[in-house]
Amino acid sequence: MLDQFIYKPIHPLPESGEISAKSPSNIALVKYWGKKPIQIPTNPSISFTLTNCFTKTTISFKKSKNFSFNFTLKGLEKPSFVSKIEFFLERIKEWCPYIFLYQIEIDTENTFPHSSGIASSASGFSALALALVELEQKITGMSNENKYLKASFLSRLGSGSASRSLYGPTAIWGQHKNIPSTSDQYAIAYNDLHENFKNYQDTILLIDKGTKKVSSTIGHELMHNHPFSKQRFSQANSNLESMINVLKNGDLDEFISISESEALTLHAMMMTSNPYFILMKQGTLSTIEKIWSFRGESKIPLSFTLDAGANVHLLYPLAYKQQVLDFIGSELIVFCQNQQYICDVVGTGANIISASYA
Ligand code: DP6
Repeated sequence: MLDQFIYKPIHPLPESGEISAKSPSNIALVKYWGKKPIQIPTNPSISFTLTNCFTKTTISFKKSKNFSFNFTLKGLEKPSFVSKIEFFLERIKEWCPYIFLYQIEIDTENTFPHSSGIASSASGFSALALALVELEQKITGMSNENKYLKASFLSRLGSGSASRSLYGPTAIWGQHKNIPSTSDQYAIAYNDLHENFKNYQDTILLIDKGTKKVSSTIGHELMHNHPFSKQRFSQANSNLESMINVLKNGDLDEFISISESEALTLHAMMMTSNPYFILMKQGTLSTIEKIWSFRGESKIPLSFTLDAGANVHLLYPLAYKQQVLDFIGSELIVFCQNQQYICDVVGTGANIISASYA
């Protein structure tokens, strides 16, 4: 099944070159929470791919007898990231042996603040993976379709949710028995969106920008002996099927009900694991209450979702953008640290910005 990812060189390796790729963050509607080695999800998930929150990564490479890599964030050395990248490159070595024939400089930058509580791992690993596979395409002549699949497969080995960032407007990662072409190894695009979801908005309220008390890796592990894991995994499978129908038929009430329930279930899993923890803050809960009253009064289909943190993602159709921004300005901004929020919209996934070889 993984044969398609084996490295099969047919052209000479470029002596040197530079490739820039960009990849967005994504927000899960049905959540991935729980995994088996190596980075195999215990349930399938689906996400909206974003646009404005993205990572741009440039790799500059030169053939060399001795492999080395250097990592910078906007030109500045970042020793704290080096071991993560090293681990990732080792993990993908069997699939991308060509990397080790070069000296590589990796420079990366995020459009969103590093400490905003928005994970940069999804956009970061997917941008790096796509840049590396672009080089591979030059050597193997692989198809564009296979390039994206392999980039998704490699991204997953860096961070599970990163596998979904390659594709937009929505991507599914994880095998589902009733959804053709789904795989635990990589994500696939899901494009059959009702008009209601075109340009769907995601405004991210930065409630707490502090670094996470519990990493996703530890959170995923806690699902192993979790008392509710079996029910949760089966619920996620059925929510995914329902969510796909909703995305097709445009039923916004059902969209709200599944996505909010998924967000609260994710946090309920954290609160009922051993050890237990709470990542929501008071501002998170106050925001949720305000959203519910606003929706009740205005009938505007504004909903929320959460990732593994305190920030709140407000999801709503483009047509209501002004009303929602007014509501944020009058009622929600008090809960945002430094009054910060980020306006984003569903997007098309990762792409190559430039590639040159010598
Ligand atoms: C709550 O993808 O960050 O955002 O695979 O360990 O890197 P690793 O975890 P990660 O987990 C994301 C969890 C989530 C839900 C989701 O994005 O599906």
